[in-house]
Amino acid sequence: MEPEMRSLMSDNSRYVESFRLFLQNSTEHQCMQHFIETKLANIVSSIGDGKKVINVLGVGSGSGEIDLQMLSKIHARYPDVSINNHIVEPSPEQILSYKERVAKTPGLDHITFHWNKKTSTEFEVQVKGENLDTKYDFIHMIQMLYYVKDIPATLKFFTSLLSTEGKLLIILVSGNSGWSTLWKKYGSRLPLNDMCLYITAGDIADMLTSIEAKYQSYDLQSDMDISECFVEGDRNGELLLDFLTETCNFKNNAPADLREEIIEELKSSRCSSIRDGKVIFNNNLSVIVVENK
Ligand SMILES: C[S@@+](CC[C@H](N)C(=O)[O-])C[C@H]1O[C@@H](n2cnc3c(N)ncnc32)[C@H](O)[C@@H]1O
Repeated sequence: MEPEMRSLMSDNSRYVESFRLFLQNSTEHQCMQHFIETKLANIVSSIGDGKKVINVLGVGSGSGEIDLQMLSKIHARYPDVSINNHIVEPSPEQILSYKERVAKTPGLDHITFHWNKKTSTEFEVQVKGENLDTKYDFIHMIQMLYYVKDIPATLKFFTSLLSTEGKLLIILVSGNSGWSTLWKKYGSRLPLNDMCLYITAGDIADMLTSIEAKYQSYDLQSDMDISECFVEGDRNGELLLDFLTETCNFKNNAPADLREEIIEELKSSRCSSIRDGKVIFNNNLSVIVVENK
């Protein structure tokens, strides 16, 4: 009998391990860093006007590497304003890494950190249940909307938390990435369940247009070296395959025909290019910045 395929999200430590490996093998964070260096100052240029405190909300912040870079840009724009930084992150391992990062980063005295070990939906239930009325000047959801069940409702809820000048920044894989090709072709044969949706920034832009939200998008070029996926018995390759398919132990649990088809698809020019003998997967991203209406 074929072993069952299940979502990678059902095994948090394997998920975190494969995500870290993905970060090592890709320019994911470097291209975000470049975006923050070149574009964020303009995006946050009015979020704190007239404020004594700026409220920031990170949803699915992971270990906070990108969060701290964005907070530093907000601080550069508003050096005399303190920041309340709220984090909504369900993984205890990620929260621990975030806390460790904060502990070893100097110059964060102007920021108060509030960690919520929660999913975005649990946070929404809390806010509504307790009638909390905090408005946020900057909310970000970076590479996390895949894990939300009802995306339109989530977008509606988080945009309702924005202050007048507030901005919501979303980053997801782009509609022209290898991810999009792979998921469009094979998403229906992978363990799509309520833990992961194969969506791209293109889908989010369509949703935002249909609710007449005001937004701007930016394309980020990014690569991922997936050569190890094609080396028999390579553990890193297996973890990267898990991450690409969002499937726990894909190599061993996928039916043989699907495994072979996906391996071929990953090598094809629809998903990757060959550079210096390496298979480089198209990891292009899009940033979407939503304004409060
Ligand atoms: C791909 S990681 C991105 C982490 C970080 N934003 C980054 O880009 O480095 C996705 C993160 O979303 C978190 N996550 C998963 N499901 C979530 C949910 N329903 N609500 C909020 N965060 C969630 C995961 O624990 C993980 O830290």
